[in-house]
Amino acid sequence: MSQLFEALDFVENPLYERIIDDVAKQKFSVIDDFFDANEVEVLRASLLEKYEEDAFKKAAIGNKFDEVIVKSIRGDVILWIDETKSNPAENLFFNKINDLVNYLNRTCFLGILHKEFHYAIYPKGTFYKRHLDTFKNDDRRKLSFVCYLNHEDWQPENGGELVLYLDETKPENDKIIYPLPGRVVIFESQIIEHEVKPVDTKRLSITGWLKTR
Ligand code: OGA
Ligand code: MN
Repeated sequence: MSQLFEALDFVENPLYERIIDDVAKQKFSVIDDFFDANEVEVLRASLLEKYEEDAFKKAAIGNKFDEVIVKSIRGDVILWIDETKSNPAENLFFNKINDLVNYLNRTCFLGILHKEFHYAIYPKGTFYKRHLDTFKNDDRRKLSFVCYLNHEDWQPENGGELVLYLDETKPENDKIIYPLPGRVVIFESQIIEHEVKPVDTKRLSITGWLKTR
């Protein structure tokens, strides 16, 4: 198809446009119900199945190739998801992600060429201290993406809020985000420092990064 036809073919997606706007203006976006209740259930079942198979390992500081486990900084356990070996739940997940990525690449010239995602479980008492999602040996992470897979009856007392530190000089501007099921948070990996507060009830999520080359 010619480029002209492709352009004519383009249909604006209001949700994606809002995400793009949010990130442009405030460096983050919170999208409730990015995944519906049924999708959350399917993804949670996949996460828990793998957890029971004991495929998870203690999360590390650093990236896949440079890992050091420091429990005083983070206490979650993770499992990287291999898109080439994805199960039906993960297919559903990647279909949505790829749709978003294609849209971003088409409209924002972001040049997202790679992505990496992992399941994460924060057992009771764990946390992830304030940090930035970029590493000394890898600055390709552009957008961080977190999707919560907690149960419907999740309550603020369960802890595990995500805090985005938006302005060093104005702590009152810190953004507190509860890990509600189906909610997705997207933020600029190289700019937004953030933290996961101590968890009181096992906290379930998929976290990932959209990366340039
Ligand atoms: C991370 C992270 C945030 C969250 O895994 O790097 O900051 O809310 N996760 O789980
Ligand atoms: Mn992080």
